[in-house]
Amino acid sequence: MFGNAFAQDAPKHDWSLADMASQRGRIFLVTGGTSGIGYESAKALAAAGAQVVIAARSSERGQEAIASIRQETPNARVQFEALDLANLASIRALGERLNATLPRLDGLINNAGIMEPPERDTSADGFEMQFAVNYLGHFALTAELLPLLQKATSPRVVTLSSIAAARGALHFSDLQFEQDYDAGSAYAQSKLACLMFALELQRRSDAAGWGIQSIASHPGLSRTNLQANHGFVRRSLRVLFQPAAQGALPTLYAATAPEARGGAYYGPTGMMEARGPLGLAEVPQSAMDAEAAARLWKVSEELSGKRFPTRLAD
Ligand SMILES: NC(=O)c1ccc[n+]([C@@H]2O[C@H](COP(=O)([O-])OP(=O)(O)OC[C@H]3O[C@@H](n4cnc5c(N)ncnc54)[C@H](OP(=O)(O)O)[C@@H]3O)[C@@H](O)[C@H]2O)c1
Repeated sequence: MFGNAFAQDAPKHDWSLADMASQRGRIFLVTGGTSGIGYESAKALAAAGAQVVIAARSSERGQEAIASIRQETPNARVQFEALDLANLASIRALGERLNATLPRLDGLINNAGIMEPPERDTSADGFEMQFAVNYLGHFALTAELLPLLQKATSPRVVTLSSIAAARGALHFSDLQFEQDYDAGSAYAQSKLACLMFALELQRRSDAAGWGIQSIASHPGLSRTNLQANHGFVRRSLRVLFQPAAQGALPTLYAATAPEARGGAYYGPTGMMEARGPLGLAEVPQSAMDAEAAARLWKVSEELSGKRFPTRLAD
């Protein structure tokens, strides 16, 4: 069974960048803004007048992204910050830099991701790589940046999931896939965890008064570098995918539309939500398990060593 508690508030199907209000005066951080969905998101936000921080590993790709954004928006306010989500020390360092230099953060877009490395790999802290980069790193980054988000008047956290979340499960007995690594299951678990995190963040913000709107989005199947390491056949299938700019619309809607709702999940509405016009995405039943979400949250605090405050004043 699927559901989305916001059925009354579906976005208009033909929502496009032309509908995006000016973002002048707002500050966004986009993880993985050097490529694919993150790049398109950063570009559109900068074109709408926002100040954008692109955070990813490669400074070279960062500078290329900035140059390319400035070709379309010459006066774009965009900067690169080094971030390796597979390294908790790097996340902490970025948090410290930004908390010291930015006046506030209006939007955090938890976008960066990797998909299905064929061999099990681990992060600097010893976690399965997809769990670390796609999910746990963003959990820690959000906790790190919460004080900065709370300085904004209407802060949002957008976290990217995937249609793969529907075939995912949380393997609490072996979250790191140490026993029997399966690249697809580990990817699906990480994306389910992202969706559950987005929903749980909204619940906790409501309960503790953090003042955050937490929204999930997914890009359907979009042509990006995500499948770059896959075999020839899977790579070739990318011609059927929608352009990355189209895939970024649910994220941009979630990050900027006044009518977007905290706790909602947005994505394309075509066949199997793989492509097509924007709308409410279906939330898999497994993602609605609030008990499992709370358990995941607790485990994530333990693994990352990063705790969210329990009350506003904490
Ligand atoms: N494309 C699709 O069809 C699709 C479908 C469903 C969901 N998604 C989700 O959409 C999001 C964006 O993916 P995409 O398709 O745009 O992929 P992409 O083109 O491969 O971009 C991934 C981005 O993540 C960054 N990144 C990778 N590892 C990182 C790390 N350890 N630390 C920090 N940044 C890192 C990369 O930058 P650097 O290499 O410079 O670090 C790059 O900017 C992901 O969360 C993905 O799961 C995509």
